[in-house]
Amino acid sequence: MAAASAEISSWPGYAPTPLHSLPEIAAVCGVKAVLYKDEATRFGLGSFKALGGAYAVASLVAAQKLAGKTPAEITVATATDGNHGRSVSWGAQLAGCTAKIYIHKHVSAAREQAMQAFGADVIRVNGNYEASLAACKSDAEISGWHIVSDTSWEGYRDIPLQVMAGYSVMASEALAQMGDMRLSHAFLPVGVGGLAAGIVAPLWQDMGEGLCKLISVESDMSPCFQESIAAQMPTLFEISEETLMAGLSCGEVSQLAWEILQPTLTHCLSITDGGVASLMRLLARGLEGTPPIEAGECSTAGLAALLAAKRDLALWSDLGFDESSVILLIGTEGATDPELYQSIMAGAGGAV
Ligand SMILES: Cc1ncc(COP(=O)(O)O)c(C=O)c1O
Repeated sequence: MAAASAEISSWPGYAPTPLHSLPEIAAVCGVKAVLYKDEATRFGLGSFKALGGAYAVASLVAAQKLAGKTPAEITVATATDGNHGRSVSWGAQLAGCTAKIYIHKHVSAAREQAMQAFGADVIRVNGNYEASLAACKSDAEISGWHIVSDTSWEGYRDIPLQVMAGYSVMASEALAQMGDMRLSHAFLPVGVGGLAAGIVAPLWQDMGEGLCKLISVESDMSPCFQESIAAQMPTLFEISEETLMAGLSCGEVSQLAWEILQPTLTHCLSITDGGVASLMRLLARGLEGTPPIEAGECSTAGLAALLAAKRDLALWSDLGFDESSVILLIGTEGATDPELYQSIMAGAGGAV
């Protein structure tokens, strides 16, 4: 984590992303504070993913250079819903190597173009995320490319570990920005689990035995972590419908993330898409005491879960909220799909 922090903070354009306080939400919930880590401005890429994929590419290229390879001889490859691929494409462009990015049939054209703009070769696969990952693995093996995946599997751990080390910068920044304030709860959006695992590590290091309650939030259309907890082992969830929260649409938890999250998470929640559009508009309008926030679809997950929990007395008490609670939400993205963002701002996707 220290190496990731030193490297990433040396990149041009680095600045900690804002940690906003949402006093209006805290008042509605009757808690001390609700804090929102806003990743919309991260390196101009629009999401926290800028920290992970690009850092893993930089580490890989550095190691390959030591082994005598030039960047031009290196090809990195990954499957993605969009944001991780954008980070890998950007990292490859910075390092001077080639990027092959595999996307599935539901990834929007805007997300595809954003990766092509960084010089990546984008390959669309007819199927879901799991199908794009299978195609990526198979082509990489045949062609000798380096897979830079944000998810891990048996025998493939080193690079996803670097990706998670990159994400840990977010939590280290948040802890520094909080000063003396101590977290009681953190809502962690989960796709494959890398983000959540990357955040848990620095919290654990900082809080030790007094670790706050850690609550995963998934889409109810892809609750692979919740299913895995129920089965007590990583379990594939067959996705039949795509959530608006594209980054959370993953059917299988990362092996490495599972090992970190399974013993540390205190609760697992899943939410519908029902609140996504209205919460995006609410944050964009500006809550009392908070500047307007450009929140992409996934960024609403924690807030939606918090407000849903508030409406459910039994869950609220089970989660242990009270007037002293300090709650961390992760706003994982801004308008990473600008067309979709604009249509939601204009009223699409449900009433306020
Ligand atoms: C914007 C956004 N939020 C949350 C996530 C979930 O992260 P992870 O797959 O590491 O759990 C993703 C993953 O792509 C994402 O793009």
